[in-house]
Amino acid sequence: MSRALEYATPPEWVRLVERRPLELLSDHAHNELKAASTAQAWLLKRPEASALVVRLARVAAEETEHFDRVVRLLYGRGGALLPLDTNPYADALLARSAATRKDRFLDRMVVAALIEARSCERFELLAAHLADAELRALYAGLVESEQGHRALFLDLVREHFEPAVAEARIAELFRLEGEVMAALPFAYRMHSGLVGAEALA
Ligand SMILES: [Fe+2]
Ligand SMILES: [Fe+2]
Repeated sequence: MSRALEYATPPEWVRLVERRPLELLSDHAHNELKAASTAQAWLLKRPEASALVVRLARVAAEETEHFDRVVRLLYGRGGALLPLDTNPYADALLARSAATRKDRFLDRMVVAALIEARSCERFELLAAHLADAELRALYAGLVESEQGHRALFLDLVREHFEPAVAEARIAELFRLEGEVMAALPFAYRMHSGLVGAEALA
């Protein structure tokens, strides 16, 4: 069963982030690298679970390849990988979910699925609405892989937990993600919100 995100990003978000494509690409590159290193870290926590190891190793490899694609495009345009900044979106998701957490692995997998789902939503918007054809192609080319990651993390949740436990926590954290996103300020970043963006319009 797939589940829709509870906050739908309006296409106007693209009009704003596309003003500073190099900042967006740098942030995006960092996200890809973080996704790769996170998948590797989780894999090392459960070395005995061979099916999990194989699937997470594949995610890590794909995210590393995405990083390579994004960072080459960034450098090709004369941009630079900016210093790693805090990530208000991921930080808020982790902090707010921790308040009601019953199982760390369950929450890790659901939050990972949410981050992938939100990335897919943003990539689809960028692929549809960016004025820049090269960037439209980049994002169109990444959607399918991120959809696969979203599905994989939800599969892992459903394989490891009782259906009632899994579905209740998935629903709870999808709701929470919608609240987090609706309250996030705008920034030239992949997972930014729109709060305060009126000033830029
Ligand atoms: Fe990725
Ligand atoms: Fe991903």
